[in-house]
Amino acid sequence: MQIHAGIITVSDRASKGLYDDLGGPALKKAAEGYGWKVLAEALVPDEKRDIQRAIREHISKGCELVLTTGGTGVALRDVTPEAVREIAIRELPGFGEVMRIESMKITKNAILSRNLAVIVDKALVICLPGKPSGAVECLSFVAGAIPHCVKVLQEVPTSC
Ligand code: MTE
Repeated sequence: MQIHAGIITVSDRASKGLYDDLGGPALKKAAEGYGWKVLAEALVPDEKRDIQRAIREHISKGCELVLTTGGTGVALRDVTPEAVREIAIRELPGFGEVMRIESMKITKNAILSRNLAVIVDKALVICLPGKPSGAVECLSFVAGAIPHCVKVLQEVPTSC
């Protein structure tokens, strides 16, 4: 099935125009490389309400997959995990576990990232680190499981 993706960059500084958003374009290129169609992109500050609104807007535009980059670390302004957990139906812990274990082979700082994946409505939301190369690397560690997950979430439930 064709996967429709949305991408959200979460960054106070990029949203204020203090520097260019490199993470969003890097993730878009990676998503297209996997054959996914990118339907929506957003750049928001590290504010829970803005992150939640952008995720809901992407889902309402038809994104079955939403990728966020940024705000997963230890700084007080890093609130992406808290924002997505508040609107999630459930978390899929395996995504965060694999991203951290694989990333630890690249950088010791990977232990600082609170990468995670959750379900919001019928969409898979994956939260990746802010560094563009880190976001693309982390996506590559879990990409193989995404098509099946998206397909299962889109299936109409059947009664017993
Ligand atoms: N994971 C990978 N694969 N590659 C990276 O370069 N950077 C780490 C980590 N995870 C990194 C990574 C760093 S330096 C931080 S601080 C955390 O992700 C959190 O990043 P964020 O707060 O920008 O989301």
